[in-house]
Amino acid sequence: MTLLDIDDLTPEELHAVLDNATRLKTADDAGTPLERQTLAMVFEKPSTRTRISFETGMTQLGGHAIFLGPDDIHLGHGEPLRDTARAISRYADFIMARVFDHADVVELAEFASIPVINGLTDDAHPCQTLADLLTIQEQFGTLDVDLAWVGDGNNVCQSLVLGAAMTDLDLTVATPEGYEIDDGVRKRAAGLGDAPVETNDPHEAIDGADIIYTDVWVSMGEEDEREQKLREFDGFQLTTDFVGDLPVMHCLPAHRGEEITDDVLESDNAIVWDQAENRLHAQKGLLDFFAE
Ligand code: CP
Ligand code: NVA
Repeated sequence: MTLLDIDDLTPEELHAVLDNATRLKTADDAGTPLERQTLAMVFEKPSTRTRISFETGMTQLGGHAIFLGPDDIHLGHGEPLRDTARAISRYADFIMARVFDHADVVELAEFASIPVINGLTDDAHPCQTLADLLTIQEQFGTLDVDLAWVGDGNNVCQSLVLGAAMTDLDLTVATPEGYEIDDGVRKRAAGLGDAPVETNDPHEAIDGADIIYTDVWVSMGEEDEREQKLREFDGFQLTTDFVGDLPVMHCLPAHRGEEITDDVLESDNAIVWDQAENRLHAQKGLLDFFAE
């Protein structure tokens, strides 16, 4: 099995992973179903939540995780990805990889003989979507709510678009012109269920919304675009006035003063810490599901 994007799961499998996550989160004693199993974690980009939640999750499930940063292995220093995939597969039970180019996790999965999990690429962040859906379900008791995405049509947004299409979540995506989701993602969503409603007007997006979600305007690897993006995203910032009394999600890390103000992030509207915690539970649900 692989999780290169959220639609590698069927809708039934997605719900099973979410149920598994809830079970592991709430069980008095979930046991150690991954005893003696090892997760190899390959990181080309920095991470706080993904690294710590996967590593802690493996510990809690009775297994072990190995952090492999950009200078820890031969990948990026001469050894091809396919050889790295084949070697890791002879030792570990799962690979989780955070890389720039989405084609790299596809290649990793092609040459690995163990499950490969995408820990974020430039195009997708399915583990974030698992935690986001779990958080929404916990907040509202259902996924049948209206979520307004306000910001960049980036990796986090694109996986959420697919996750919404696979569930009851109704998604409206507001981006500045030129920062919409990829057409391929739009088509995949339409094939799975509903493509999101799209607009370039953030106020239109939050009209009737139950919850708002944003992410950084300048993703990892886009630092050269910062000045241009700050100009073009003018009007998309989540301010106290804009969000009103709606709950606010953010995958974090936040760039305070850019996509979201300090006030909003520090307010009771922000459910971002529950959302961050759910990375742990959702990924435990996934790892246990893959191990079964
Ligand atoms: N949301 C998320 O993936 O955070 P990190 O970059 O800290 O892993
Ligand atoms: N869109 C952000 C998400 C970080 C978790 C990035 O790719 O940098």
